[in-house]
Amino acid sequence: MALSLDKNWWRQAVVYQIYPRSFKDSNGDGLGDIKGITSKIDYLSSLNLDAVWLSPFYPSALVDGGYDVDDYRDVDPKLGSLADFDEMLAKLHDAGIRIFVDIVPNHSSNLHLWFKEAIAAEPGSAARNRYIFRDGKGANGELPPTDWPSHFAPSAWTHESKMGGKHNQWYCHLFAPEQPDFNWDNREVEEDFLRTLKFWADRGVDGFRIDVAHAMKKDLSEPLKSLPKLPTHKEIDLDRGKNVLFDRNELHEVYKEWRRLFDRYDPPRVAVAEANVSAEALVKYASPEELGQSFNFELLNADFEAADFKKVIDRSLFSAKKNGSSTTWCLNNHDQMRPATKYGLDPAVDKVKWRNSNGSSAPLDEAYGISAAIAGSMLIMALPGSTYIYQGEELGLHEVTDIPENQIQDPQYLRNLKIDKGRDGCRVPLPWTNTGSSFGFGSAGAHLPQPKWFGDNSVEIESADPNSPLSIFRKALALRKTLIAPEDMTWHETGDANVLHFSRPNGWNCITNFGRSQYNFDGAGEVIHSSGPLAKSGDLPPATTVWVRSSR
Ligand code: NOJ
Repeated sequence: MALSLDKNWWRQAVVYQIYPRSFKDSNGDGLGDIKGITSKIDYLSSLNLDAVWLSPFYPSALVDGGYDVDDYRDVDPKLGSLADFDEMLAKLHDAGIRIFVDIVPNHSSNLHLWFKEAIAAEPGSAARNRYIFRDGKGANGELPPTDWPSHFAPSAWTHESKMGGKHNQWYCHLFAPEQPDFNWDNREVEEDFLRTLKFWADRGVDGFRIDVAHAMKKDLSEPLKSLPKLPTHKEIDLDRGKNVLFDRNELHEVYKEWRRLFDRYDPPRVAVAEANVSAEALVKYASPEELGQSFNFELLNADFEAADFKKVIDRSLFSAKKNGSSTTWCLNNHDQMRPATKYGLDPAVDKVKWRNSNGSSAPLDEAYGISAAIAGSMLIMALPGSTYIYQGEELGLHEVTDIPENQIQDPQYLRNLKIDKGRDGCRVPLPWTNTGSSFGFGSAGAHLPQPKWFGDNSVEIESADPNSPLSIFRKALALRKTLIAPEDMTWHETGDANVLHFSRPNGWNCITNFGRSQYNFDGAGEVIHSSGPLAKSGDLPPATTVWVRSSR
């Protein structure tokens, strides 16, 4: 299948996120790799995707699952080579699938050449000025320069001696100490990222996902200001582009320059911001003069409840329309608890505590969770905008809750005083087959332990079952291609607060029952597809979505 010639292909695309190390291992080292992805292009094609987004595959010591990058313009030898990448890209394009790569501009890894040079260099040197080094406080500089918090450690500062530095300075990192933050006030850093974007765009990469897109620019004016805790969206908004660490006005100049680069390509390269800011602030990142789209994470925080979903949908479509962008929808990614699990728990359950208890602190309704997750997916697929699917979501996978403590990899757990077990439970290598070594992931085990039940959710088993999550997804995604309509939608009254019904301008209707009893939709039109069996014609069971064709 040829690539679409439509320059606006991204506005209502289906993008499938691949977490490369956990997708498919081709060489039996327990780690997924590039050739593994290439070997599964038929599978990706069977999902009717517009694009795949690859989480980082760059050389990395994997302190943060690859978001600690040693070299932005290479492939981790554990995952393959640039030649393997080029082969994968050509074959994806032949299959009509575009590719996004992940750009991590806020921080490199401590093994990046520049950081090694910085640690070896003198205070005040050009090499140190690519990162954020400062003298400490206290009589002998023994205290961190500021109170800034980090996401993965109590402080955003680590003394250079921990990385072998011989001077008495500290460096800044908003994530793990092995992820030093770049100094984005340094033009050399800006230029190096332009080079990286060009490097991948020249190779044929179609789009970029920008990691922590709201964090690179910081207020580094002296004396450094205080910011004792990570600010809420509201607090960031109140600072109006002048927060010490996040969502600063200067960022938008960076993205405007990136846009000028993207627009030099035919078709223009596209981008999506991962910016953890309010819906109002997101708009700027997604404007046509900047990145074009930003992740809309609001549904990740919503319960499987009609009112929650409706509020988020209205707000997101309103702001996308206002700035000429199209919004994105996702229920999952590599940082989130699997939606089947989230929805299978009572909304009142504290998910972090539940995860920490290895799933023992509250009952999980597994079947309901899967139904709700698939119903939610069919709902977001029908909305105007792009749908993001995280690998394994199409299998209805649950979170893996029993990873032994000594095998946990996530720095969120390891560095964060072990108060949050972290994200490994959604990053366990995919089950491809019912039996065999690591359920078909690779010939020599998997880098995170797979549970016994994974075989039941394997691609092999689910492909053979017409009612499996995979079969429902496949049919939904194939239909979506034929049903796609202008970027608009209309709500319809359902008379039931637990049921949402909207239609697209071409008569594609989507009805979702979030309640616990049946909903009768007789008369809405001809049924095209449903996320689960319909009890009897016209009755929509709980946690089910139906697509219906009508003249309205
Ligand atoms: C966001 C990524 O999605 C997450 O996995 C990572 O830990 C942080 N950014 C830091 O890069």
